[in-house]
Amino acid sequence: MALLKIYHYPEKVLLQKALPVETIDDSIIKLVNDMGETMFDAPGVGLAAPQVGESKRIIVYNPSPATSEEDEDLPQEFKALINPEIIASSGSITSEGEACLSVPDYSCDVKRFEKVTVRGLNLEGKKLEFDAEGILAVIMQHEIDHLDGVLYIDRISALKRNMYKKKLKKRLQSN
Ligand code: NI
Repeated sequence: MALLKIYHYPEKVLLQKALPVETIDDSIIKLVNDMGETMFDAPGVGLAAPQVGESKRIIVYNPSPATSEEDEDLPQEFKALINPEIIASSGSITSEGEACLSVPDYSCDVKRFEKVTVRGLNLEGKKLEFDAEGILAVIMQHEIDHLDGVLYIDRISALKRNMYKKKLKKRLQSN
């Protein structure tokens, strides 16, 4: 396994629609395993293939993200979804301090659906369908958005987004 480079906003690969995976071959399995390792190393609770420069409809996520420091010692296993889609959604919650490995040094509350039903394939190519709620529902919405070139900063107010962009511009100029 290998750690992959995480691409940052505004790299083009993050802003375009990713292509469906046609065949789950060895290269896809390797990519998924590398994505899982990269996610835990970062550390993060989810990662989408465009974030590592691959415009493919693949996400990995931590199915039981730590909610306390004690939980952080639990063994970490990631799950993968190929060609995931949200087929139903309901309710409304505000994610507190949502962040993204591709949008460094920023976090913001985002309005999200409270519950979603997700459909996709696992690494064996088996069809999966499950309900997610709370933090897992937020992770699903955030990661599947990445596959459509949508970042969480696209889902906040224009005022906050412009504040972030100004901050980013300053940082890029000072480098
Ligand atoms: Ni993200």
